[in-house]
Amino acid sequence: MKSLTSLALTSDPSGLRVLDQRRLPHEEHWVTCRDPEHMIELIQGLAVRGAPLIGVAAALAMAHYAESGANAEAIRSASTRLRAARPTAVNLMAAIDRLLGLPELTKDSVVREAEAIFEADVASCEAQAELGAALISDGDSILTHCNAGGLVAAGIGTALGVLRRAHEQGKRIHVYVDETRPLLQGARITAWELGKLGIDHTLICDNMAASLMGQGKIQKVFVGADRIAKNGDVANKIGTYGVAVLAHHHRVPFYVVAPRTTFDSGCPSGKDIPIEQRAADEVRAGKAPTTSRVYNPAFDVTPRELITGIVLDDGML
Ligand code: MRU
Repeated sequence: MKSLTSLALTSDPSGLRVLDQRRLPHEEHWVTCRDPEHMIELIQGLAVRGAPLIGVAAALAMAHYAESGANAEAIRSASTRLRAARPTAVNLMAAIDRLLGLPELTKDSVVREAEAIFEADVASCEAQAELGAALISDGDSILTHCNAGGLVAAGIGTALGVLRRAHEQGKRIHVYVDETRPLLQGARITAWELGKLGIDHTLICDNMAASLMGQGKIQKVFVGADRIAKNGDVANKIGTYGVAVLAHHHRVPFYVVAPRTTFDSGCPSGKDIPIEQRAADEVRAGKAPTTSRVYNPAFDVTPRELITGIVLDDGML
């Protein structure tokens, strides 16, 4: 088994370790994944999160399970449970389907395929970054929502990978970071990543984007995606649709960046994308009455007519 390392996980013959993203930015706490059931818990609890990463992490969890001596039947049944850990990001299903589609589920074949999934994601991030960075001009102020950086992928990320590449190319950019209620992936994780990369940024509450766009302070929006339907509708973190509506009103270009594995040709339109509903307490955040009913979809769908372009690793839609 190869040694593989990304910002969010490490895998080598001694085990699979993941950075617990729930504890960021205050603590960089690593957890050793015990088995596929443990990976399901880590994914559902959002210790491991972000569309490409949950696919890569699930594949590597299966590789370690195969390495530990699990037979083909045990691999098949654990894969099927892992595949259903979260319903919206199609990358999880795509990665597990790659494993289940192997002619034989042996230790060597599962390990090799999981390693190939990791390496393909690294290359995909690089290709997205190159294509996307060409859309950014020196001096742009860019809004992003949720987290789409090195913590959501094996490589440098999707939307944030594009911003990173533009910064590396010497373009002077400023990033406005939506805090991203209810779980604050923007405030906790994107701001942390941008700080580490030395990229100039400002954190805002989600409800401040309109005001900034109204003042002409945002030139472009870049976000990631959890699933892209065949017609070009895009599911991403809840609140993305609202940002797209604002961008359309203010004539600000709105770009989505994702690996090809996020494109689901079997899903005709956004209406067909299953949207994960999460616990009420995430929205109450310890502040609202526990008796109030809560609506907490983890994702929303942005219709294609609000999207200027979708940057994939093999081209732009
Ligand atoms: O619930 P999360 O934190 O897993 O949601 C993540 C997002 O919505 C990201 O924006 C998305 O996965 C795209 S980044 C590749």
